[in-house]
Amino acid sequence: MAGRIPKNFIDDLISRVDIVDVIDRRVPLKKTGNNHSACCPFHSEKTPSFTISQQKQFFHCFGCGAHGSAISFLMDYDHLSFVEAVEELASQAGVEVPREENDFVDQVSRKKVDGLYQLQMRAAEWFSEQLKSHPAAVEAISYLKKRGVSGEVARDYQLGLAPPGWSGLSDGLNDERLLSLGLVIKKEGGGCYDRFRNRIIFPIRNRRGKVVGFGGRVLDDSLPKYLNSPETELYHKGSELYGLYEALSKVGRQQRLIVVEGYMDVIALAQFGISYAVATLGTATTAEQAGQMFRHVPEVVFCFDGDSAGKKAAWKALESALSVLRDGREIRFMLMPEGEDPDTLVRKEGLERFEERIQNAQPLSEYFFEYLAESLDVNSMEGRAKLVDRAKPLIDKIPSDTFRKMMKERLTKIAKIDSAFLGREEDANKDVNRRPVANRLGQKPSAMRATITLLLNYPALAREIDLDGRWRLLDAPGMPLLRKLIELLAVNPSINLGQILEMFRGQEEEKMIQKLAVADLSVIDEKLAVDEFKAAIENLGARRDGMRIEQLLAKADSLSEQEQAELKQLLS
Ligand code: UTP
Ligand code: MN
Repeated sequence: MAGRIPKNFIDDLISRVDIVDVIDRRVPLKKTGNNHSACCPFHSEKTPSFTISQQKQFFHCFGCGAHGSAISFLMDYDHLSFVEAVEELASQAGVEVPREENDFVDQVSRKKVDGLYQLQMRAAEWFSEQLKSHPAAVEAISYLKKRGVSGEVARDYQLGLAPPGWSGLSDGLNDERLLSLGLVIKKEGGGCYDRFRNRIIFPIRNRRGKVVGFGGRVLDDSLPKYLNSPETELYHKGSELYGLYEALSKVGRQQRLIVVEGYMDVIALAQFGISYAVATLGTATTAEQAGQMFRHVPEVVFCFDGDSAGKKAAWKALESALSVLRDGREIRFMLMPEGEDPDTLVRKEGLERFEERIQNAQPLSEYFFEYLAESLDVNSMEGRAKLVDRAKPLIDKIPSDTFRKMMKERLTKIAKIDSAFLGREEDANKDVNRRPVANRLGQKPSAMRATITLLLNYPALAREIDLDGRWRLLDAPGMPLLRKLIELLAVNPSINLGQILEMFRGQEEEKMIQKLAVADLSVIDEKLAVDEFKAAIENLGARRDGMRIEQLLAKADSLSEQEQAELKQLLS
């Protein structure tokens, strides 16, 4: 449905994000000289041959030949499509992916969705305005104060008030589309009334900060305690996490997220300085939500009630999250003491004690077997057989080879069975896209290939030569590409290799560029590179002159006057 992503956006995006950041979040990197390195995530190895150049915005494994831009990395590592990888990068950079509208229908539906977002945002503003100015705000504010919510936190989370009365919002915004946002409800005899009345309003924002829905809490003990937006075109509760946008927009990178059950838990934790809490919206945690969190942090701590409902919820979360548990990602669990939730507990114990609890949260491996052992009798053979039956399919879902193997080993110990019962572990690399061994330049690179390689390694070289020099006229294999690159780089000398690769994605020159790009010449110092490049270009010019002289000499008798002059000049 969506239009194409404009090329210059991709170029911009690559210059905005840092490939080192992108990769480091998934594969921890070490700085080595000018580059960063790690053991390659695309093949198994003991010594690191996976290197990332920050300057070039390019990664390359000398072992298996994997290479490319930040986008290629995400496509391979996170198994994303090109578009998904671009969207992922864009969301990390906090920008929206623009689309070329090539179709009238696209334009219309996009306009419509944009309009709905606008309206939803206006509704959020209207609610928050009521919390300041409506006569009923006095009571709402005193309720929030009683629950310890400061003005600052209320502002961060854009809390609002749906005042009493049936048509405050409908009259305030006067827009038929409020119905399709679920903000008003149709009356039987015609007309509409506000869904949210006399409630504190919690706007739910998506990863990009757009309001997609609302939650509303009563100010007293009436029921239902919470009301939420229904599923709409903009709001799918299984894909959103309350507080995620707010958590990620805090300065500095978050190392972990903690998942709690309620709106007020998120708010209370933020009030105490724990700004990295998010809440699922009255549903079990989905794999999609887990995946979303791990795109931003390496660690997720699930925090649930200690009662049996809470334990079930934690187990459900575990089941959904297993499938996104890749190397470097960690899940832990903390259960609340009887009768407490994170809101009440952090108020009772304070920040330090609560953070200690987070520190001591149980690793998934422990929680996994503990939960199963609680519901089965592992002292009997039957119980242990059941344990294996229940645990094995779950463990098989874990994508991290190392972790999966360790979990299986643990299972064999607890169930007292031979590992053969669990089936053979496939070769760790079976699924990994093994690549051909690096295609470094051959023994004797052609002058043309060497020249292009230099240029790809030092794009600013394009500025060092005469763009209209004789070299330009040479007709030889590789020349069209060289000309294209020089033209491109002369105007954009600060462009990096990652950007160049993305510009040529899908074009016929792509393969050639990739092949030449992986030859790392960064050992050459920049001065030397300039000299070498100038000499190479000079050489191309000389070659062209030589060829031209031969051409002219070959038709010596029939040379025009102009050609004679040209020959004379070339020979001098
Ligand atoms: P809780 O009942 O645990 O409420 O619901 P809470 O978060 O502790 O609320 P306070 O502290 O009394 O204000 C947890 C979550 O379940 C959903 C909401 O998302 C809520 O935050 N819920 C609960 C509903 O959707 N509707 C309800 O009627 C109750
Ligand atoms: Mn509560």
